[in-house]
Amino acid sequence: MPPYLLVSRSAEYESRLRGLLGGRLAVVAGEFLTFGVDAVIKRVDGTPRIALLGPVLNFEETRGIARELTDRHPDIGLVVVREQRSDLEDWVDELSLHAVLSPLATDETTIELIERLSAWLVVNGRADKEDFEESDAVDAGETSDDVLAALVASPSAHPTSDVDDPVDTDRTRLGPDFDSLTQVQPEQGWEFPPLESGVLSEAIAVVAPKGGQGKTTIAINLATGLAEVAPNSVVLVDADLQFGDITAALGLVPDSTIVEAAGDAAADELVLKTALTHHDDGFFVVASAPSPEAGDAITGTALAVLIERLRATFRYVVVDTTPGLPEHTLAMLEHVTDAIFVTNMSVPSLRAMRTEFELLHKLELTPANRHIVLNQTDRLSGLTTRDVENILSAPVDVEVPRSSAVLLSSNRGVPLIHDDVRDPAAKAIRSLVMRIAPDAYPKRTRIHRRRRSNESQ
Ligand SMILES: Nc1ncnc2c1ncn2[C@@H]1O[C@H](COP(=O)(O)OP(=O)(O)OP(=O)(O)O)[C@@H](O)[C@H]1O
Ligand SMILES: [Mg+2]
Repeated sequence: MPPYLLVSRSAEYESRLRGLLGGRLAVVAGEFLTFGVDAVIKRVDGTPRIALLGPVLNFEETRGIARELTDRHPDIGLVVVREQRSDLEDWVDELSLHAVLSPLATDETTIELIERLSAWLVVNGRADKEDFEESDAVDAGETSDDVLAALVASPSAHPTSDVDDPVDTDRTRLGPDFDSLTQVQPEQGWEFPPLESGVLSEAIAVVAPKGGQGKTTIAINLATGLAEVAPNSVVLVDADLQFGDITAALGLVPDSTIVEAAGDAAADELVLKTALTHHDDGFFVVASAPSPEAGDAITGTALAVLIERLRATFRYVVVDTTPGLPEHTLAMLEHVTDAIFVTNMSVPSLRAMRTEFELLHKLELTPANRHIVLNQTDRLSGLTTRDVENILSAPVDVEVPRSSAVLLSSNRGVPLIHDDVRDPAAKAIRSLVMRIAPDAYPKRTRIHRRRRSNESQ
């Protein structure tokens, strides 16, 4: 019976963990949660010794599975796979977890944590050493077994050998070494020199459930506007990995693309910088992949790592995305401070946007600041802004009118807000810039205050 169980919505993480644990891993796809926690539990075979929950599971889902598993298998070890976010403390306090593991942790760190917890369960009589051994022909690699044997034999691998109640999963009883289990961080060999002290980097994703709503137009002009506030400290990432067109819209010819920027070699700051293309208006661009196949090869994790790398150097990271919520966009949303949702006035687009809000809310992936942009507004659409807000069940933050200047500027390869400063669409986009950077355009008196996403949900 496989000793390790993974419940996750990330196919990418699943295949990575399968690569590490081979036949010792059983997987239940998080998608079964659509039918409730029971649907997941029913698919758990035998007695798992360690369950890894996440990534991309929300708190309620994780709590439901954790409770059911500990009811049925009181000796089980529980690991949450989740980024170190501000709410993590609550998770650790409220759930009887043994460890928190970052999905970005290296393979070495991941396997080390799993093996240490396995050893701890053996030492504390919650599992037998044989439980963790390969039971069939599938080869998980010798190293794992060797590491486990070494850990069980080593006194330093007995972090909680003084805990003799095998059923007690109370965190406070686990002793000081428990913290070293919980604090497993991704290896940050790629860290850049910090930004000016006290300055926080902001990452802003521009998303829409349907194509052609104006994401790229908004992303380009937002980066241009922010570059006026923070010259050369803005980077625009074309994460529309298959069909991104930002460099074409800006008349740039990139030497490198996101393939290099998200590659392992870009862990080195100098390599990363050579993967950026500079725009004369004072911002940098990470160009989209040169072909759809090359774009396909970039993983959600690599994209998330890229955003974090860029945030270490740039004041603002603006990310243009593919329509919808593919795995890449979900992974990326965990790493942004703001999301701009763009929709036009058509009823199908508005309904899709509402469904997207509900899904993100359920997954607890709504970024801290949400901004709704109603683009291509048109009096002849048959809908009023009030109608739109009723369909979305949320207020519209910025209305960008339909304007022929948008297409003209794009065809000229010049950002609209510099091409035609008086155009009503350009003025509306400037008000969006002010929401993100309230210090922009200080001569204006009307400063838009940001609304936290949960205030308008
Ligand atoms: N306010 C506007 N007024 C007029 N045309 C607009 C406006 N906003 C966007 N457009 C036009 O709509 C088209 C789609 O815009 P854009 O490429 O920015 O959308 P997108 O969401 O990035 O699309 P995709 O999903 O294909 O990436 C473009 O031709 C653009 O010029
Ligand atoms: Mg686009």
